[in-house]
Amino acid sequence: MQTPLPVIQTQIPPDVIDLGLGNPPLSLLPLDMIREAAQNTLSQNDNSFLQYGTEQGDGYLRAALANFLSGGYGFPVDPQRLFITTGISNALDLICTFFTQPGDTIFVEKPSYFLALRIFADHHLNVVSIETDENGLIPASLEEKLAGFRPKFLYLIPTFQNPTGHTLPQERREQIVRLAEKHDFLIAADEVYQLLNYSQQPPKPFGAYVDAGAENVISLGSFSKILAPGLRLGWMQAHANIIKRFANSGLMDSGGGLNPFTSAVVRGVIESGGLGENIGRLKSIYRDQIRAMDEALRRHLPEAKYEVPHGGYFFWLQFPNRIDVGELRKNASAFKVDFRQGALFSSNGGLKNYMRLCFVYYDAEKIEEGIKRISACLHQAF
Ligand SMILES: Cc1ncc(COP(=O)(O)O)c(C=O)c1O
Repeated sequence: MQTPLPVIQTQIPPDVIDLGLGNPPLSLLPLDMIREAAQNTLSQNDNSFLQYGTEQGDGYLRAALANFLSGGYGFPVDPQRLFITTGISNALDLICTFFTQPGDTIFVEKPSYFLALRIFADHHLNVVSIETDENGLIPASLEEKLAGFRPKFLYLIPTFQNPTGHTLPQERREQIVRLAEKHDFLIAADEVYQLLNYSQQPPKPFGAYVDAGAENVISLGSFSKILAPGLRLGWMQAHANIIKRFANSGLMDSGGGLNPFTSAVVRGVIESGGLGENIGRLKSIYRDQIRAMDEALRRHLPEAKYEVPHGGYFFWLQFPNRIDVGELRKNASAFKVDFRQGALFSSNGGLKNYMRLCFVYYDAEKIEEGIKRISACLHQAF
């Protein structure tokens, strides 16, 4: 019999525990909620979501989302400043398309989300990394780099960063926005984890600057981590001038606004209160899994230094310099485990002694077993 063609992106062998993966598990994707919303949507006598959609994105979804975000973000979000995307990956690709030419310089944090770096490579951009510390991007390092480069944009994950889990404090946010105004570059703030806080309320998202009238800030959001990645749905929040640039593009003119059908279903999920409920459920499960990972790390990997994350998806472990996590990973399959080496998140191959682990994909028991296997792999090699 032929093997079925794949449906999902990542295939993990059944006996392997991959603590590197940054996906939610299938068990936490809310099928019943989506089924109910879809049934509701399909039973209305309005089939307009089957038509080419309005360029900026479904108006009902934007209104429902603006209302939801106003509560979650703590300031009024204007639906006129929202543009519907098919997720943050799509938004980043569009930002590169509309605001850069091959060879242009952009700035990223060191380290940064490694798959965003791949999107920037597709656009042949010159990616320059800016130093960070436990409070995220260092404004003085940004200023230093601005003496030598004129970036088109700064790509930033300000809250519960991937991979470090760090959050940029308010004061640094202000400094970065001032530098962007002075040096005329855009800030593309990837706020994918903003609503997934477990033990600390983060500062307001960069969307707050958009709300206050900033013309050079684009705040990116996504339903991938708060509902389901397969929906391929997200949003950007930006000044009317930027929204116009996207909405008036040839892409939207030809294809219409993005994902009208999914937008109609997700609108139903938001309006019924399902989105808030789902986020609440995820937070309570993830809190327990963070605790499990912290305990397992303390028990089995005492050489790893880390801070327990207050939100997001990841633990960021620092090992002694002699440990090359990329080398270690070559041997991981023999121990039926996997993780991600820090070098993946560096634009120049540094951070060799760092490891990213994700606490959302497995339950507490599997997390402990996975950490035990990493420990066995490490202690055999070093
Ligand atoms: C920082 C960050 N940005 C973007 C994404 C992908 O977002 P989307 O599914 O909306 O394209 C992820 C997923 O892991 C992420 O961690």
